[in-house]
Amino acid sequence: MVRTVYIRTFGCQMNVHDSEKILGVLQKEGYSETEDPRKADLIIFNTCSIRQRAEHKFYSELGRVKSYKKRRSKIQIAIAGCIAQHEGENIFKKAPYVDFIFGPQNIHMLKDLTSGRTAPVAIKDNPEIVITDLPAKRADGVKAWVTIMYGCNNFCSYCIVPYTRGRERSRPSENIYSEVAELADKGYKEITLLGQNVNSYRSDIDFPGLLRRLDRVGGIERIRFVTSHPGDLSGELIKAMSGLSKVCEHIHLPMQSGSSNILRLMNRGYTYDDYIRKVSSLREKVPGISITSDIIAGFPGETEDDHLLTIEALKEIEFDGIFAFKFSPRPGTRAAEMRGHLPEEVKSERLSQILEVQEEITEIKNRSLEGTIQEILIEGGSETDMEKLTGRTRTNKIVNIPKIDVEKGSIISVEITKGRKHSLEGRPIKK
Ligand code: 5AD
Ligand code: SF4
Repeated sequence: MVRTVYIRTFGCQMNVHDSEKILGVLQKEGYSETEDPRKADLIIFNTCSIRQRAEHKFYSELGRVKSYKKRRSKIQIAIAGCIAQHEGENIFKKAPYVDFIFGPQNIHMLKDLTSGRTAPVAIKDNPEIVITDLPAKRADGVKAWVTIMYGCNNFCSYCIVPYTRGRERSRPSENIYSEVAELADKGYKEITLLGQNVNSYRSDIDFPGLLRRLDRVGGIERIRFVTSHPGDLSGELIKAMSGLSKVCEHIHLPMQSGSSNILRLMNRGYTYDDYIRKVSSLREKVPGISITSDIIAGFPGETEDDHLLTIEALKEIEFDGIFAFKFSPRPGTRAAEMRGHLPEEVKSERLSQILEVQEEITEIKNRSLEGTIQEILIEGGSETDMEKLTGRTRTNKIVNIPKIDVEKGSIISVEITKGRKHSLEGRPIKK
């Protein structure tokens, strides 16, 4: 009997990839995916708890599916991801119509959960996760995510991840290598290695060693990785980035704040000066590298001066782009208990100042690429314009070009004709 599953994913790439694994496991059990929750036999919410807003969004969508169940009593509703892990069976109190709950470390339990052969809450710590290779139903044929490590040991004071994703664990390099080789066989061109803190990857080899090994997989053209923690960014890694031809010239290196005082309260383990030194070294040894970052506005105790240090830092460093967020207190984290929480208006005001300063920098940086030649990997048609194709530079910038006769997955050279705030325009050139 064919059963259908609808999955709604919130949050980071880690969650997006977990959803691919969830679908991979269910496909083996005979499920097929549907885009319409009203037709599904199984509805899964893969949730995120990084900020309050993500949680709110999930709970309001969850409320909506309650009525589906009234109409078709046989459908199953399941909660996965970080809220599932953190809340466990408390979710049943809020939403008794939920059938089962499983955390990011228990995706392998799905067969037993859907059939009711096991208790409906699967949130146990699972050290075996690194050697259990789950099938993934990947959405794209060109780019693929590959998990290299699970969990996080950093305990930044604002962050809930160590509580939802558990302790840091690295997959054996052999498992990663075979997965990447298999992806290459299937025609994938680009892989992004995933982990909360990839620089502290350590199994039989370390992260630079892993990059050296994967750089030799034929067929794969580009290797990326997220996320890097500035504290663990070694000279050895910078060397690997500069020396390995497939490793792309882009790093996402969350700074969080330009004030060393706030960085200390955040338990980040580096000062602003340490951060600047890493950025200089990256720019010196990896020419043309693009650097993106995350910033938190209005951390508890952040003074106007601290905030201005962040603004100054943005101007000094000139990131290629940032994600910025208002501080959101997460129950159970140390920052939630700290003194000096700021009013919403102050956080909003600081956030908009940060975004405004950065937007201008991003646009200037993108404009400075006009006239340059870039290699782009064609991902397919543009989402906004039927007459265009979209690709990305090695530095991870989106480039739209007029439609030409090339296959998805090709790498072509383009001249950048226009730099905009969020993307570039280009025209193909003959090499
Ligand atoms: N409040 C606001 N932003 C947060 N982030 C993580 N936790 C919080 C929080 N409690 C941001 C950080 C991190 C990114 C993924 O989300 O900037 O790098
Ligand atoms: Fe990803 Fe963190 Fe959100 Fe979990 S809480 S989905 S790890 S961003």
